[in-house]
Amino acid sequence: MTNDSQAAWLATCEAAARAGGEQLMAWRGRFQTREKGVGDLVTDADLASQSAIQAVIAARFPDHAFIGEEQASGSGPIRADQLAWIVDPLDGTTNYVHGYPNYAVSVAIARGRQVLAGVVYDPLADACFATAAGQGAWCNGGRLKTSAVNRLADSLVAVSLPARVHRDSPDLLDFVEVVQVCQAVRRSGSAALNLAHVASGALDAFWATHIQPWDVAAGILLIREAGGVVSARDGGEFDLWNPHFVAAAGTQLHAELLGALRPFSRS
Ligand code: IPD
Ligand code: CA
Ligand code: CA
Repeated sequence: MTNDSQAAWLATCEAAARAGGEQLMAWRGRFQTREKGVGDLVTDADLASQSAIQAVIAARFPDHAFIGEEQASGSGPIRADQLAWIVDPLDGTTNYVHGYPNYAVSVAIARGRQVLAGVVYDPLADACFATAAGQGAWCNGGRLKTSAVNRLADSLVAVSLPARVHRDSPDLLDFVEVVQVCQAVRRSGSAALNLAHVASGALDAFWATHIQPWDVAAGILLIREAGGVVSARDGGEFDLWNPHFVAAAGTQLHAELLGALRPFSRS
């Protein structure tokens, strides 16, 4: 039996993200680490978290597609009209490996380009950032609202950079531009948490160009439902399946950040 309703999707996002978070806590101090690519780490905890998340989702929605960063299940090509779960079982693996307390689980459900519900769960803080399209966004039951900061000069901004960023990369040149015109820039290593923190008002804006759908599916909806603005990095419409973006607390700040960034080109 399945119960395809927004409330059931949201409850499943939360149950799955908490199950993943439990694994992350349980594996601390005893996991093995390997490199998937240069500077791109994966641990036993990433894999255990994804298995736990997938088990929760499969038990409730066996017919839905599943896209997890650590893959394995291979649901095959996804149709535009199909419901698909998009999962990052551990966003911030490098932080996790070092014991730097900044990582999260991200679980979302989407149909085509539209995210329908999502959760970013910070297991250390036991903070569950949850959202459903058209319903708003909450953290542990409290309503989320983006900050009132509307000038870049007053803003705390975050960026995600690729693991081994080249010294001439457009991402770094953008960083240099923005760091001069805002109050401060942070690169803290978890895109999902950065997005949740823009939704909560702790950060004012965030941008990233080299990023994956599972890093941002839940977080982008959190920001929109908390009153923030998200566009593609080139100012066009955000596309979940080609997810370069600029997100900000409000329209004015978003426009100012887009203006401060250099013209967009894919490096
Ligand atoms: C990473 C984080 C980081 C971003 C990287 C991602 P992972 O995810 O989101 O903020 O800069 O591009 O790969 O590998 O820790 O799940
Ligand atoms: Ca990630
Ligand atoms: Ca990950």
